[in-house]
Amino acid sequence: MIERMAARLCALRDADQFRELLVPAGIPLCSNDYLGLATHPRLKEAIARALEQDAQVASTGSRLLSGNHARWEQLESQFADFIGVEAALYFPSGYAANIGLLGSILKVDDTVFSDAANHASLIDGIRLSRANRVVFPHLDMNYLEDALRAQTGSGEKVVVVESIFSMDGDRAPIAQLVGLCERFDASLIIDEAHATGVVGTGGRGLVYAAGRSEHVLATVHTCGKALASMGAFVAGSRTLREFLINHARPFIFTTALPPYSAAHVSEAVVLASQADREREHLANVSEHLRARMRAAGFSVTTSESQIVPLILGSNQTALRFAAALAGAGFAVRAIRPPTVPPGSARLRFSLNATLSTSNIDALMDALTHAGGVSGN
Ligand SMILES: Cc1ncc(COP(=O)(O)O)c(C=O)c1O
Repeated sequence: MIERMAARLCALRDADQFRELLVPAGIPLCSNDYLGLATHPRLKEAIARALEQDAQVASTGSRLLSGNHARWEQLESQFADFIGVEAALYFPSGYAANIGLLGSILKVDDTVFSDAANHASLIDGIRLSRANRVVFPHLDMNYLEDALRAQTGSGEKVVVVESIFSMDGDRAPIAQLVGLCERFDASLIIDEAHATGVVGTGGRGLVYAAGRSEHVLATVHTCGKALASMGAFVAGSRTLREFLINHARPFIFTTALPPYSAAHVSEAVVLASQADREREHLANVSEHLRARMRAAGFSVTTSESQIVPLILGSNQTALRFAAALAGAGFAVRAIRPPTVPPGSARLRFSLNATLSTSNIDALMDALTHAGGVSGN
């Protein structure tokens, strides 16, 4: 087995797809701390306060056993109220939330319509469910419409998308998706990982901003990104919450996070709701980067958010650019297949509210230099 593992690692190296752990250094361009809250003193204080108040530093069990501290119940109500839905359930990570949600609500005779650019956690949840899967080309609403129309089987139909896509930074057309789902009697699940805290009034996400919360079966809101904490909420109806408590294995069969982490997430939700200035600044620096990239002749694809990819094609070129930018003091990673489709290796700039336009200008200087050196 070890020999086979070594051979597979060799193959990854040969294809420039070998991944290794790097400690980030320099100006952060690969962080998901979109609002810059990860260093906020109020988050540290919230944790310290909770640690002082709580007798236990560990949850001591799963939520269904001894791990259901009152802080979790309060946090879930707080978040449901915040985004204006009936209920929310907290999972220890966004990955667990997606596999827990999709792996439990779908049955084998259902059909899932999944956007080709969906995150691995959504894909894995669908695979776990063993439901039929139709992968539609990224944001191709005509294809989706035809596929929904053609699906006449007896099972349920479920459409799964991200609201802001993690690798392209573009947005799903929420109103159009809701319209299609209503026409073809399908349910809609939307992963708001990169929109939570970032988009819409108070950072409530794209579904809330589109006024369509009631028309969506479930939204998923990770807390490890703009909310500068960890875990994720699945939000929707009370029935959905009860169903997940009874069926979602990644919820049932895992130890709850320590209660002080609920205090951390709770304070992060409050801070994010008040971060209008950070959201506006983030939108401005993102637009500044896109404008500068366009002016320099780089393609910015369809990005409409704080995620701005620079598609370079080959893995080698992406690695070369990332190394050149690291040398110039920027922390950015080359994103390669299988995270993105073959031939679309890229740098993925994920911007945050601590960056200034002069940081972006310096990045552009480094990028232009890297492009000149590598002939791109
Ligand atoms: C779209 C999307 N969904 C889910 C996740 C998983 O969230 P977490 O990191 O909390 O497991 C991520 C990123 O990690 C993501 O980009």
